Amino acid sequence: DGDVFKYYCEGEWKKSASGKSVAIINPTTRKTQYKVQACTQEEVNKAMEIAKAAQKSWAKTPLWKRAELLHKAAAILKEHKAPIAECLVKEIAKPAKDAVTEVVRSGDLISYTAEEGVRILGEGKFLVSDSFPGNERTKYCLTSKIPLGVILAIPPFNYPVNLAVSKIGPALITGNSLVLKPPTQGAVAALHMVHCFHLAGFPKGLISCITGKGSEIGDFLTMHPGVNCISFTGGDTGVAISKKAGMVPLQMELGGKDACIVLEDADLDLAAGNIVKGGFSYSGQRCTAVKVVLVMESVADTLVEKVKAKVAKLTVGPPEDNCDITPVVSESSANFIEGLVMDAKQKDATFCQPYKREGNLIWPLLLDNVRPDMRIAWEEPFGPVLPVIRINSVEEGIHHCNASNFGLQGCVFTKDINKAILISDAMETGTVQINSAPARGPDHFPFQGLKDSGIGSQGITNSINMMTKVKTTVINLP
Ligand code: G3H
Repeated sequence: DGDVFKYYCEGEWKKSASGKSVAIINPTTRKTQYKVQACTQEEVNKAMEIAKAAQKSWAKTPLWKRAELLHKAAAILKEHKAPIAECLVKEIAKPAKDAVTEVVRSGDLISYTAEEGVRILGEGKFLVSDSFPGNERTKYCLTSKIPLGVILAIPPFNYPVNLAVSKIGPALITGNSLVLKPPTQGAVAALHMVHCFHLAGFPKGLISCITGKGSEIGDFLTMHPGVNCISFTGGDTGVAISKKAGMVPLQMELGGKDACIVLEDADLDLAAGNIVKGGFSYSGQRCTAVKVVLVMESVADTLVEKVKAKVAKLTVGPPEDNCDITPVVSESSANFIEGLVMDAKQKDATFCQPYKREGNLIWPLLLDNVRPDMRIAWEEPFGPVLPVIRINSVEEGIHHCNASNFGLQGCVFTKDINKAILISDAMETGTVQINSAPARGPDHFPFQGLKDSGIGSQGITNSINMMTKVKTTVINLP
């Protein structure tokens, strides 16, 4: 069937032997936009087998050559930004401008990874034995960083390109091979991105991209004995994967409930601007979105008014028109968000706008006077709905933040840097932003979540280190 996008294995584009496909529903039209191959377990086995073989010679390829190929892939990716962005618009309803930004940012990420990789991997350590008690200077220890083997990369729907290359780049520069399982929504954008690596001329079998149903190949992939490391970004599935995965290093970035604490002395215009940008860009479908505002009661009325005024200016509609608020990724996601809104309504939250939904399109909604007994106080809507909880002390805000099972990022707005640092220290999250909304980038910054928000740390440097193991050679002198 010519309508079904092929998957990528052994340096070739292939049809699955299953004869089946998976439909990708356009979130805006709610009709099938594309189809991808429903790969079988045998096809996963094949990808793993060739990834293992390809990795051996790749690891011996000079580092500068690996970097050169990555730079080439980055340039090709940027050249192809328009067709890839088009897929992001159709598959995940990302506003057109943001879709282009995602691809360009991804090219930059790959180039930076190549540069960082040659520096990090180009250096080793030299240790001598007589620094440890009881030893003479009779042992010289040389360290270097070696690859892990086959990396399984599973990015999420909200950044199918950027969060794929944030795993592919570090995997390849460090001498690993890679099997990519893209999210279904976003799979075609990912296949286009993989095509850019194909055009750059990476060796056959080094990169595979397997599409299909999670129910058929998900566990099979994550529990596959050929996998030497899993890098996953997404939701609850990550918790399940970490329980089932074997003895391999895991890099996981899962959900978040990023809090925005606003103190009495804050610049309220700055806070309101960041709350709207942080809470509503890509319709709140970012793990680092502001997901709860904790504002001091004395400034709450003013802040809410300012946020309301900015929310009123958000445009709502199709991603092709570059609207700020676009349809959420699926009907089930829209239904889940609606469930949170209805729960808040029943429990008397203040609706700053009327609740409105058409298909998967949900109008931006600010909920004031949210209390801890409401689901929206704790759960992640992954949609354009933002709760405001009024607090009477900083401690109350920190307590709410730390009572969450998530701990990705958080932010605090105040003009008092000392207070900001103390609050940052007290917040149990991977990152705290002072006077700005949470965000992962710039992409070389460390990025990590505590508690259920993740395992390990990402960011270019950390991912390079995570996808290697230290190898030592000890020279014993007579
Ligand atoms: O959705 C999770 C992403 O890692 C967030 O990235 O802060 O660049 O939107 P971002």
